[in-house]
Amino acid sequence: MPDRRILTTESGAPVADNQHSQTAGPGGPVLLQDQHLVEKLARFNRERIPERVVHARGSGAYGYFEVARDVSAYTRAKVFNGVGTRTETFVRFSTVAGGRGAPEAVRDPRGFAVKFYTVDGNYDLVGNNTPIFFIRDPLKFPDFIHSQKPDPFTNRQEPENVWDFFSHSPEATHMFTWLFGDRGIPANYRQMDGFGSHTFSWTNARGEQFYVKYHFKTDQGIATLTTQEAAVLAGANPESHNSDLLEAIERREYPSWTLKVQVMPVAEAVGYRINPFDLTKVWPYADYPLIEVGKLVLDKNPDNYFADVEQSAFDPGNFVPGIGPSPDKMLQGRLFAYGDAHRYRLGINHTRIPVNAPHATKADNYGRDGAMRFDSNGGRSKNYEPNSFDGPAETNEPHYGGLDTTGVSGTYEWDRRETDDFAQAGALYSLIDDAAKRRLVDNIADGVAQVEHSAIVDRSVSCFRSADPDYGDAPGAKARPEGRCGLTSADAAPFAAGELGGARGVDDQDRTRRLVRDAVRNTPENPPCAPHAFVAHDDQVGADLCRHADDGFGGIACGSVDLRLHAGPLRDRDELREQRVSRREVVRGEEFGGQVGGANRLRFVGGDDVQVGAARLGKVHGRLDGAQRGRRAVCANQKLLEHLTPPP
Ligand code: HEM
Repeated sequence: MPDRRILTTESGAPVADNQHSQTAGPGGPVLLQDQHLVEKLARFNRERIPERVVHARGSGAYGYFEVARDVSAYTRAKVFNGVGTRTETFVRFSTVAGGRGAPEAVRDPRGFAVKFYTVDGNYDLVGNNTPIFFIRDPLKFPDFIHSQKPDPFTNRQEPENVWDFFSHSPEATHMFTWLFGDRGIPANYRQMDGFGSHTFSWTNARGEQFYVKYHFKTDQGIATLTTQEAAVLAGANPESHNSDLLEAIERREYPSWTLKVQVMPVAEAVGYRINPFDLTKVWPYADYPLIEVGKLVLDKNPDNYFADVEQSAFDPGNFVPGIGPSPDKMLQGRLFAYGDAHRYRLGINHTRIPVNAPHATKADNYGRDGAMRFDSNGGRSKNYEPNSFDGPAETNEPHYGGLDTTGVSGTYEWDRRETDDFAQAGALYSLIDDAAKRRLVDNIADGVAQVEHSAIVDRSVSCFRSADPDYGDAPGAKARPEGRCGLTSADAAPFAAGELGGARGVDDQDRTRRLVRDAVRNTPENPPCAPHAFVAHDDQVGADLCRHADDGFGGIACGSVDLRLHAGPLRDRDELREQRVSRREVVRGEEFGGQVGGANRLRFVGGDDVQVGAARLGKVHGRLDGAQRGRRAVCANQKLLEHLTPPP
């Protein structure tokens, strides 16, 4: 085989045998002298680098940005000047909370990080698919992320932690409204918008300064998943987003986004009714309409994922002339955080890795040495400045205008202006139609209902109520089902579909369904709400429930506000009817096999007044306790719920 390439060791020597290790005789031990084996195993051990502390899972692609409308009136950044100007780009999309192997079809913001390889150096716009964010002070970021990431003890995401942090951070109400609404789970990376989210500053050639917000509008149309659809997809195809992007580009269906900006003259910032540097707020379009700038197109998959996507490093501090930061405190914190993360994750020479190095110009400075310096390291050129040897020198042209500052240094309360933490969340809620409201509330209720501490539930619900009384009451109805149809099928859906949803475990769904339906039909005062039963999807619990169902009935919740539960086997349905009382149900005995939708308060004879939410049930029901916490145990079964919807 004369033309075949020869396999070599790392040092380039030919490898004689890549199938058999060297041994002392045919059956003897393996020899340490087998350099090829040792080297191969050692390299393998070092294949992984630390994953990103957030946004660990992602996909990337190359493409270009082309200016459609010249915005040189606002910025002298060459990347946005001159109709038809094309700049090479690399984009990395990501999820936020999950680790590198986590499923992608989850309720989570999506990262939308764009690297423009401009002639003036690389410009990184490191945004999300949301125009806003949870918090507005960088000091809170590590705490916020800790509340989203696995708990130190249970090593899993805990609703308790998520909602605890939220309930202490009312400024997150707007973002939670966004995240738990219909756009909270994009169907894929192509069919979502991107945002710079922060306010940035632009400076034109005359030195005039503007504040600006970036919006990348998808040309593919928005597509989202319901909680239920996402649960199925996340299980069936954890790499759904990655595959969608990769395959679309391979098919030459190049995704594109139209970049638009909102522009505010700096002088207007002081008097604007909304603090323009508050990352939890949008600028209403009526105040600052969108101005089109150009198109972002992705037309090339990287040939090697690790080289270009895993090693890519986006830094919000990478500006080019004409673009700069605003006083947005979060942005200011990020200006430090990313470079620091890259130095830890990739090392000081990460800027020389091809995906991160400038493409349309070259880096020319006095930085030298460091681990993994693999280019010529400046060769013989001087490594200090100023020098007398024609080395690179500064331009004396600031990239952007300065920021006006006043006052004494210190820590300050947030400048809330006219709007508070809730006005825009309430506005968003009132904008969406009733069905979307319902889904939003369901999704929130799903989360809140898994929280054990009633103070956290109360604080969380009060945030939504502050945004809009109706908005707060609806999820609140799960915790305190006063006066509304708190247990409709929509309410039930999130339990059915939630992250733990699935169709496992209930071994006789038909029988359970029949029992539930009959019981509901037999209830004369049953209001027109859909009946509900919540049945565990866990094997053990499912079997348990079925056994209860066999005995009579495990428990149901139905009607507008009433709950009906039964402890222990029922003798007949009459007894079930007799046991119906209003709102706060008395349940006799010590066990029951059903679940109620939401964190309903129930009184157990002989027990404490307990809040029965998903998390609590496991504790109430001895058999459901143990290794599997209640919330795992009681996630409802979507298929069953579908069956439960009464026939027309
Ligand atoms: C003070 C607040 C924040 C801090 C301290 C912070 C910190 C970080 C860190 C350390 C990384 C990992 C970087 C790496 O290893 O390459 C990261 C990734 C990322 N962050 Fe943030 N972040 C903050 C807020 C935000 C906000 C508000 C957004 C969006 C508007 C955002 C979007 C992203 C994106 C898209 C990535 C992934 C970049 C990539 O694809 O490599 N972050 N963040």
